[in-house]
Amino acid sequence: MRHPILAANWKMHKTVGEATAFVARLLPRVEEARGVEIVLAVPFTVLERVGRSLEGSAVHLAAQNVHPEEQGAFTGEISPGMLADLGCRYAIVGHSERRVLFAETDDFVARKAAALLERDILPIVCVGESLEDREAKRTWDVLGAQIQGSLARVPDELAGEIVIAYEPVWAIGTGRTATPEIAQEAHAFIRDRLANRFGAAGAQIRIQYGGSVNPENVYALMQQPDIDGALVGGASLDPEAFARIVAFESQGSVQ
Ligand code: PGA
Repeated sequence: MRHPILAANWKMHKTVGEATAFVARLLPRVEEARGVEIVLAVPFTVLERVGRSLEGSAVHLAAQNVHPEEQGAFTGEISPGMLADLGCRYAIVGHSERRVLFAETDDFVARKAAALLERDILPIVCVGESLEDREAKRTWDVLGAQIQGSLARVPDELAGEIVIAYEPVWAIGTGRTATPEIAQEAHAFIRDRLANRFGAAGAQIRIQYGGSVNPENVYALMQQPDIDGALVGGASLDPEAFARIVAFESQGSVQ
């Protein structure tokens, strides 16, 4: 049984004041959430303050990126140990914005994931094809290569510690969500790759969908057999909207 995981990815949004106001509004709204895991991936600058606000709650703190080295001459970078020090439980790696805008490769993503695991931080490893890839019928090649490359350094015995986020680039921030069927098809493909790589443990790895998830579409996505959660950008900036996404089961009755 895979435990649903709903994660907010704030990207480059929110000051300390805005972040603490968000948490104050979110927590009372998700108190009743049972059986789901809730994660807030926030900018580095608010990790410490948000972490303190989340103390005593069931909501997990996450970073949006990390550098694979523990320390050294890497101006502007943040290490896994620094994130562990602030109480991060998760960190996103390989988001398409980092792959595209900052030229991150699968190998770099793989080093990040492995470095996080050494610090007991669970990596949320993002994969996803571009519109060009999809139209050229390269989706499975691209996803297969990203899974293989980005997970290359994950030790077999730690397979259960990773989360995958399938985020088709054409659906991110565009309002153009993958249909539940298109998303399920990709999740099933990824599940198959994970089983190839990790054997039976691959069946336990959670795969989130990301790309224009909102309170209206989350229920149908979550009904799919291989969709185990969501990684939410735009709609996660509003505490009410994110709380409704967390309570996705009750969104079914309002469809
Ligand atoms: P979106 O972003 O929900 O705004 O499409 C998702 C993501 O990039 O993680």
